[in-house]
Amino acid sequence: MKVWVPSQAAADVLADLPDVECTVFDGTTPPPDNADEVEVWIPALVPLRDLAGMFARMPKLRLVQTVTAGVDAYLPHIPEGVTLCNARGVHDAGTAEWAVAAMLAVLRDLPYFAAKQRECEWAYRHTDVLADSTVLIVGYGSIGEALERRLAGFEVDVIRVARSARQLPDGRKVHGQEELPQLLPLADVVVLLVPATPDTAGLVDAGFLARMRDGAVLVNAARGSVVDTDALLAELTAGRLRAALDVTAPEPLPPDHPLWRAPGILITPHVAGSTPASQRRALKLIRSQMLRYLSGEPLRNVITGSY
Ligand code: GLV
Repeated sequence: MKVWVPSQAAADVLADLPDVECTVFDGTTPPPDNADEVEVWIPALVPLRDLAGMFARMPKLRLVQTVTAGVDAYLPHIPEGVTLCNARGVHDAGTAEWAVAAMLAVLRDLPYFAAKQRECEWAYRHTDVLADSTVLIVGYGSIGEALERRLAGFEVDVIRVARSARQLPDGRKVHGQEELPQLLPLADVVVLLVPATPDTAGLVDAGFLARMRDGAVLVNAARGSVVDTDALLAELTAGRLRAALDVTAPEPLPPDHPLWRAPGILITPHVAGSTPASQRRALKLIRSQMLRYLSGEPLRNVITGSY
């Protein structure tokens, strides 16, 4: 069976599986010439630009196992009869850690002090703090849970929001998305972790932002499409909100985009999950999914398809 894998490390973890023949394709070179024979494709972190064109050249494809949690790039193009599985869990640690780092960086003015360090300037001043604040997590799934665990030592209140309200086994409450208008004014930090779907496109619009507290921080570790960039830019330019973004619309953000230079913003280039922790977890998932696929056991994390 021909399998495309995103790295030599992925080929190595599958090396002992019988009948599995891996070709490394990391998306930065033209596709290998055996596309028409590939049955399983494990694409690299950054999706190909022309996925529809790629799929059209893969008639034997049966399974796409992403190494991303979000599958918004794949879903619209996935061919009939092909199963799509995501990497739920793989990026929980990396992304949750990025969100903590990003909110701390903005609240403690680290970009300001880093700029002053470059000028060798001892620029003493007081900063904001995370302690005693309220963090609202919008899109409370496995990454949200990992974030809440990491926030446990920071003396904050956490409010959880998911598509529909539920109670966690220990009694903690997850609010439904429809409660956001009442919850937003309570938060000092709003962390976006929702998947990009038609439902969440533009969720963070001018009205959403207007309900956030003066000085509150928007942290986006979801997708750029969830936020109305112009509306956010207006709030940042007015100095009313602050933001930390790992994802933007457009992405990559062009060099001349005004968001780069907006006041109170920290931008990282979609790197929350690009760490050795995620790589280690991705390799584990790849191996366990391939073992399941080969033995006919049900796959984990099936998003669409019936394998
Ligand atoms: C990264 O953006 C992911 O979806 O895992």
